[in-house]
Amino acid sequence: MMMPENGHRAHGFSSALFLDSDEILAELDLKGDETFMDAGCGDGHIAIKLLEDYNHKGTVYAVDAYDASIEDMETYKQENNVENLINIEADITEGIFGVEDESIDLVLLVNVFHGFKASRKLDEAVLEFKRIIKKDGKIAIMDYKAWDVPKGPPTKMRSSPSDLEELFDKYGLKMTYLNEEIGEDIPQGKSHYLIMFQKK
Ligand SMILES: C[S@@+](CC[C@H](N)C(=O)[O-])C[C@H]1O[C@@H](n2cnc3c(N)ncnc32)[C@H](O)[C@@H]1O
Repeated sequence: MMMPENGHRAHGFSSALFLDSDEILAELDLKGDETFMDAGCGDGHIAIKLLEDYNHKGTVYAVDAYDASIEDMETYKQENNVENLINIEADITEGIFGVEDESIDLVLLVNVFHGFKASRKLDEAVLEFKRIIKKDGKIAIMDYKAWDVPKGPPTKMRSSPSDLEELFDKYGLKMTYLNEEIGEDIPQGKSHYLIMFQKK
């Protein structure tokens, strides 16, 4: 377990150390009243940024399977009296208990999706995201490019945008946005892509 900058516990590396959350949030074109989910929130730095710096008024869900991350987010909520933050401890691939069908405007996953490939739970994850997004809701995935480079997960755990397009298409979800020039500067170029899907 590593200790992220904000002191919250996280299972895995917090992207706060090497990704710019303003750059990520700028991609999402949020108006401020959306029901938003930071899925696999880790230390919660993106959800907290949205609440504090963008003064987001819509409901913000922070979801993670790691109990300590959700405990820390709950402490943050209580200490700061953040009424529109809902923290849920759940394994996304088994269902996010308490989140209604078609209730979320935007789900964001930063450095989380490759884990579903590793655990062979890609289909379960896609189906759960499809269940919770509204008819015009969006699933935004930011993840490491499928390159064989030292930083990030092993190459075999990574997916390319076209791999994801094929996977989501099976479930009636179409790609509506792709930015392949985002993330950290590494010798090979930009480290990440951000891709969005919506219902057809
Ligand atoms: C690499 S960390 C990224 C955290 C955060 N999104 C960030 O960018 O800093 C991956 C996070 O996803 C969570 N996670 C992985 N698989 C999950 C699952 N099936 N359900 C819920 N959370 C999961 C882990 O517990 C971890 O906190």
